[in-house]
Amino acid sequence: MFEQTPHFHFEQLDSTNNYASTIAKLPETLSGTAITTDFQLEGRGQRDNKWLAEPGSSFLGTIILKVPFKPEEIFYLSKWAALQVAKTLIQHNILCVSIKWPNDIFVEGKKIGGILIENSWSDQQLHYSLIGIGINITNQHLENATCISNHTIEIPTAPSFLKTLRNHMSGNLFLLEEKKWLEIDSQYHHLLFQKGEIKNYQIAKDQSNFSGKIIRVEADGKLIVETDSQSCLGFYMKEITFL
Ligand code: BTN
Repeated sequence: MFEQTPHFHFEQLDSTNNYASTIAKLPETLSGTAITTDFQLEGRGQRDNKWLAEPGSSFLGTIILKVPFKPEEIFYLSKWAALQVAKTLIQHNILCVSIKWPNDIFVEGKKIGGILIENSWSDQQLHYSLIGIGINITNQHLENATCISNHTIEIPTAPSFLKTLRNHMSGNLFLLEEKKWLEIDSQYHHLLFQKGEIKNYQIAKDQSNFSGKIIRVEADGKLIVETDSQSCLGFYMKEITFL
């Protein structure tokens, strides 16, 4: 289905999410429309970070989705988007793909890409969501990160990555449209980075360290970690650091 929706490609943009936000407002812009570029002048990441990528080294794209979520359901979009990106990498023969809470994409314990979701609401109604995705394909000069070319010899081009991604998104759109939250949760937890492993974490508010294991991510995005003393702690974004 998404294969037939428009795809706009640019040699250079400030940010694919910025461009997408201008056209997503138009009623004629179809759900599934893709915006891609070879280079972003002002690529944006989560937590107000910049997203930097050398020209032609990455998949840089935004998919516009128009699905009427309720505010309390919106974290399922984040889980679903991360799953479709993970499945795309797996289809391109990348092994050991995982999703680091909330939606970073990891391969063999290193970040290979990330997702920036921006939603437009009014009166508790979602107008559109922008799913901005950056995946390192060949950028070797990355500290503490990795790229597709480190993990396979059949390196996909950005257009072939998009084709696979859109196939997964359209094939799995029913999970969102039919509110298959249990199925999304089951797939997400299956790929969740460090789930069930005893690891060290730091609590942001007092900088204290503890060891524990990730148990699950709740519907509102709260990460649940079980401590050595078997009590469960819950964290939202920016409240915990993975050590
Ligand atoms: C993260 O911080 O992990 C999220 C990174 C998201 C980057 C992508 S690249 C395409 C789209 N346009 C942007 O400006 N950001 C997202």
